[in-house]
Amino acid sequence: MNTDTLTMTNSRSKLSTSNVSPAMNSKVVLKAEHLHKHYPVSQGLGKPKGYVKALNGISFELEAGKTLAVVGESGCGKSTLARQLTLIEQPTDGQLFINGINTTSYNRRALKNIRTEIQMVFQNPYGSLNPRHTIGYQLTEPLDIHTKLSSVKKKQKVNEMMRLVGLRPEHSGRYPHMFSGGQRQRIALARAMMLNPKIVVADEPTSALDVSIQAQVLNLFMDLQDEYNTAYVFISHDLSVVRHIADDLMVMYLGKVVEHGPKEAIYINPQHPYTIALLSAAPSIGEKKKELKLQGELPSPLNLPSGCALHKRCPYATEQCSQVEPELREWKGRLVSCLRLEEIYS
Ligand SMILES: Nc1ncnc2c1ncn2[C@@H]1O[C@H](COP(=O)(O)OP(=O)(O)OP(=O)(O)O)[C@@H](O)[C@H]1O
Ligand SMILES: [Mg+2]
Repeated sequence: MNTDTLTMTNSRSKLSTSNVSPAMNSKVVLKAEHLHKHYPVSQGLGKPKGYVKALNGISFELEAGKTLAVVGESGCGKSTLARQLTLIEQPTDGQLFINGINTTSYNRRALKNIRTEIQMVFQNPYGSLNPRHTIGYQLTEPLDIHTKLSSVKKKQKVNEMMRLVGLRPEHSGRYPHMFSGGQRQRIALARAMMLNPKIVVADEPTSALDVSIQAQVLNLFMDLQDEYNTAYVFISHDLSVVRHIADDLMVMYLGKVVEHGPKEAIYINPQHPYTIALLSAAPSIGEKKKELKLQGELPSPLNLPSGCALHKRCPYATEQCSQVEPELREWKGRLVSCLRLEEIYS
C-alpha cells in the first residue's frame, strides 16, 4: 500500500494513507503520485554528465476548496513542483491526476482542455500579463479561446470578475503598467480565475508586494476560494503568510516531502527536525516550543546525499540515517519521513 499519500479532508485532522483514485473520491481535484523531475546537465552534445534531481517522489492529494501550502528553503523544488502541476513541464516519472484524469497518459490535444482546470499565479504578475494589451483584452482572452460565449456575455463576465477582485470595470481599457503592484496581482488572479478552474497554483504570489498590500491580496485569494470552491497549492517562504491561508502544510527538503499534515498541528508541534529548524528560523512565528539550528548548507541536488537527505545537517542523525532512505509514515496526526522519531520523542 502506498503510505505517502495524504488526503486533505474537511475534518482537517483526518488522514488517509490509502491509494484511492480521485475518481473514487470525488472531492479530490489534484493528486500527485511519486512525481520526479530530473533535469539533465549537458556538456554540449552527447550524454548528460549528470542530473539535477529537483523532485524526488512527491505524493499528495488536494480536495476542492482546500489550500495546501508548500514550504521549504530556496532550491528545494517548490517552483519545479508548480511547473509539473500546471503541466508547463512533464515530470520525469510519476503520475499526476487533475480532476480524476491521469494527465501523464494524455496526448497534447486532450491536455489543452485539462489545462483550463489548473491555472498558475506567479510571484511577478508582469510574467503572466502582456504589457502590450489592455487588461480587458487579457481577461477576455481565456473566454475567447475556450468558450463560445457571446461578446455581451464575455463583457459581463469580465466586469463581474473585475468587481470581484476589487477593480473598477471602467478601467478595463488600461494597460498593466497603469496599475500598482497589488492591483496587477489582482488582475493576474482574475485572469487565472476567468475559466473557473478547479485548482490554482500560486508560486510566491505575495512575496513581491508591500506588507500592507499582502494581507489584502491574501484575503482576496480566500474570498475567491469561498466564492468558487477553488483548491489552492500555495507556495511561499513566508511562514506567517502560510499560517494565514493554509489548511494543510507540506514541508519539502531536496525535492522530497519531509512533513505533511494539518497546518496548526505542524505549527504548534513540528515533528521532523527539518520542520523544527525551519520554524525556528522564522522571526514571524511567535513563541516556539522547540528550537533547532541545522549545520551546514543545503546539499546540491546534482549530488544528493545517501540515506536521509538531511543526515549531514541533522543533530539526531546516526549511521543508519546515512544509509537508509526514510519513507513518509503516519506520526502524530500527520505524515513524517524520519527514521528516528521514536528515539527523538521517547
Ligand atoms: N530547468 C532547469 N534545469 C536545471 N536545473 C533546474 C531547472 N529548474 C530548476 N532547477 C534546479 O532545481 C532545483 C529546484 O529549483 P526550484 O526553482 O524548484 O526551487 P525553489 O524551491 O522554487 O527555490 P526558491 O525558493 O528560490 O524559488 C534547484 O537546484 C534549481 O537550480
Ligand atoms: Mg521558486
